[in-house]
Amino acid sequence: MKSTQVTISNLNKHIERSVTLNGWVYNKRTSGKIWFLLLRDGTGLAQCVVVKSEVAPEIFELKNTVTQETSVSVTGIVRKDDRSVGGFEIGVESIEIHQIAAEYPISPKEHGTDFLMNNRHLWMRSSKQHAILIIRHHVIKACREFFDKNGFILVDSPILTANAAEGTTSLFEVDYFNRSAYLTQSGQLYGEAGAMAFGKIYCFGPTFRAEKSKTRRHLTEFWMVEPEIAYCDLDEDMTWAEKFVEHIVTHCLEHCQTELDILERDISRLEKIKTPFPRITYDEAAALLKKKGVDFTYGSDFGGTDETVISEEFDSPVMIHRWPAEIKAFYMKRDEENPDLALGVDMLAPEGYGEIIGGGQREDDHDILVSKIKEHGLPMDVFGWYLDLRKYGSVPHAGFGLGIERTVAWICGIRHIRQTIPFPRTLSRLEP
Ligand code: 4AD
Ligand code: MG
Repeated sequence: MKSTQVTISNLNKHIERSVTLNGWVYNKRTSGKIWFLLLRDGTGLAQCVVVKSEVAPEIFELKNTVTQETSVSVTGIVRKDDRSVGGFEIGVESIEIHQIAAEYPISPKEHGTDFLMNNRHLWMRSSKQHAILIIRHHVIKACREFFDKNGFILVDSPILTANAAEGTTSLFEVDYFNRSAYLTQSGQLYGEAGAMAFGKIYCFGPTFRAEKSKTRRHLTEFWMVEPEIAYCDLDEDMTWAEKFVEHIVTHCLEHCQTELDILERDISRLEKIKTPFPRITYDEAAALLKKKGVDFTYGSDFGGTDETVISEEFDSPVMIHRWPAEIKAFYMKRDEENPDLALGVDMLAPEGYGEIIGGGQREDDHDILVSKIKEHGLPMDVFGWYLDLRKYGSVPHAGFGLGIERTVAWICGIRHIRQTIPFPRTLSRLEP
């Protein structure tokens, strides 16, 4: 009987049948007339049992040849076996070798993070890293699902831009046919154009910031998903943000049980994430820090430690709104009741994972926006198209950006965001 090619995740559909699994050797263990090959195929692990009396002698002898990560196709009978990893066992009939792997640098022993990061291209095969990247896949899927279900249209923003969006200090400059261009820091300004055309849009892509600080929360290249909504104020913006984050968490709890388990994530903390999330003003957050005895200067941005202290007060993510306008971007609308405050909002994840969302209501008045661009010392000429949006049917509008890596770090319960992206870029890392 010819065997079918299947994946380990689908073994339950092939019990007592002969199948072929294509994968890599994760581990092997020999014991006399029998040896075990633990196979990894990207969808799971399966124990393959090679019995001397059941296979050709040259197949049995492969126990001496195969090394960790050797690429193999294993053909055998699927047996249900609750003691085995994944609940199945393969009674091997034959093994085809594709390439005998050289001595694999990553072993179960402890390696330093730098070593592992240098071997990121291989490290992503390890079970924890694999689990994190599967969760990343699901976070992104949940983001798209949420916006698609709620009538948002995907409007892609460019990566090469002429203007800054989030301050000029973190711009990556590139030579663009004898003029300067910048790698995008945020798709927002283009998203605003999209919202005026489609009502509700989102953009999703890589964004770049020349972050000179080395922290566990900063990458120089990270992915951001950014909705933008016409006829929307700050309050409604916060409602979208909390529903969105609740959806991501619910989706992961439903689809990533295995992975959260591998990461030993305390999911009771995630199960508490239910809307509505607390909303506090910047002033209230500053007062909270004071009460907690934190040395904090009113008017400045919250640092990593401040964010941790604030978020630890709440089980859910907390939204901090109405910020001193001076520390926020030029495009933020001022609060009518107190023009020193900008209608911005940051969402902090619980358990000390810090800011995962930044957003707010946008300045929709043409002349005020012109004065803000001037005040921030930004070049007016590159903002002509952006100012047009305030000339041709300007409306109140708002949006936000969620950082994928920080969200994945929080859901996975891992401290450093460098593990949440397949190939991280930081101040000191451009390879692999
Ligand atoms: O707060 P930020 O700077 O907001 C914006 O860029 C707005 N234009 C978004 C919008 O309103 N459409 O960045 C948004 C989020 C942060 O909350 C954080 O999660 C993430 O992007 N982020 C970073 N993630 C990793 N590394 C960095 N260097 C990051 N900078 C921001
Ligand atoms: Mg921010």
